[in-house]
Amino acid sequence: MISKKCSTFAVPKGIPNARVAESVDALVSNTSSFTGVPVRPRPRVQRKRVQKQSLFCFSPLPYFYVILQPKHNKKNRMSQKNKLFKFAQNETFPHMFQPKLMYGSPDDFELKGRWKSEFFHNENPITVELGCGKGEYSVAMANEIPTGNFIGVDIKGARMWRGASDSLEMGMKNIAFLRTRVEFTPKCFGKNEVSEIWITFPDPHLGAKSTHKKRLTSSRFLTYYQNFLADNGIVNLKTDDDTLYEYTKQVIARNNLPLLIDASNLYESEHYTGFLTLKTHYEKMWNKENRTIKYLRFRLPQDIILEEPE
Ligand SMILES: C[S@@+](CC[C@H](N)C(=O)[O-])C[C@H]1O[C@@H](n2cnc3c(N)ncnc32)[C@H](O)[C@@H]1O
Repeated sequence: MISKKCSTFAVPKGIPNARVAESVDALVSNTSSFTGVPVRPRPRVQRKRVQKQSLFCFSPLPYFYVILQPKHNKKNRMSQKNKLFKFAQNETFPHMFQPKLMYGSPDDFELKGRWKSEFFHNENPITVELGCGKGEYSVAMANEIPTGNFIGVDIKGARMWRGASDSLEMGMKNIAFLRTRVEFTPKCFGKNEVSEIWITFPDPHLGAKSTHKKRLTSSRFLTYYQNFLADNGIVNLKTDDDTLYEYTKQVIARNNLPLLIDASNLYESEHYTGFLTLKTHYEKMWNKENRTIKYLRFRLPQDIILEEPE
């Protein structure tokens, strides 16, 4: 039953009533499901004003109103409400994991090395999409390849909600979402646990050279992937950004990584078939700006020490 207090629950368009009822029920009956939401306490004085506009108006969670305080403009207020709705639903999804991991802590995620046996319940290969956003690739591949397992990783829960919600609605059992920093993936996957990596339209980090190490194809990140990607496992990069594309080619050349495909203009190349024709949210945005889409596919050996290009 949805309690009276929650009957004013604002529902974004397109969410089936049954799903809303389910998640509201879960929230009302189990307030501990909010523990995954970061808490940033604010001064008490702000609370009252915020409560009035908040989506969840029941009392056990005063701090919750505070962290999700809507801004004083109608559009922002709606998007904050949608975010709150999505965060709350994420907590109830059986295939969404939001481990609390910390730099310098020896703690690993409980499914590390056990994804196949404890979650997927099969021995099919695992493909991971890093910085998955809405998880378009993970969902499409999981749908098309029932003999594979797929995990979308991102730090932004509201974006991942899209893929998590769609895949749940479609009853898919071979997909999961992991909300964490890519930096923590070695804490989440065991040695050889992953067969393939997809990186679609990552942030290019175009600042000073010191920021290059934040690129998901830098030697620093590839070294993280060596911890869990099978020896000579495959890494796919799709990008609109010339600098990131050239930089990744330099990383590949510097470390003699086997380059399988180099398409400087994917749409004009022979490789523009199958999954590569799938367009992510960001890809569609860059299409509108007529940017050329590039694609690299290479192997990552496990036992080499990776170096940055000069
Ligand atoms: C430009 S968006 C691309 C999203 C999606 N792949 C697409 O093509 O629409 C980059 C995504 O990477 C995520 N991201 C960037 N750095 C990350 C990190 N270190 N750990 C986890 N996610 C990260 C962001 O949250 C964002 O969703």
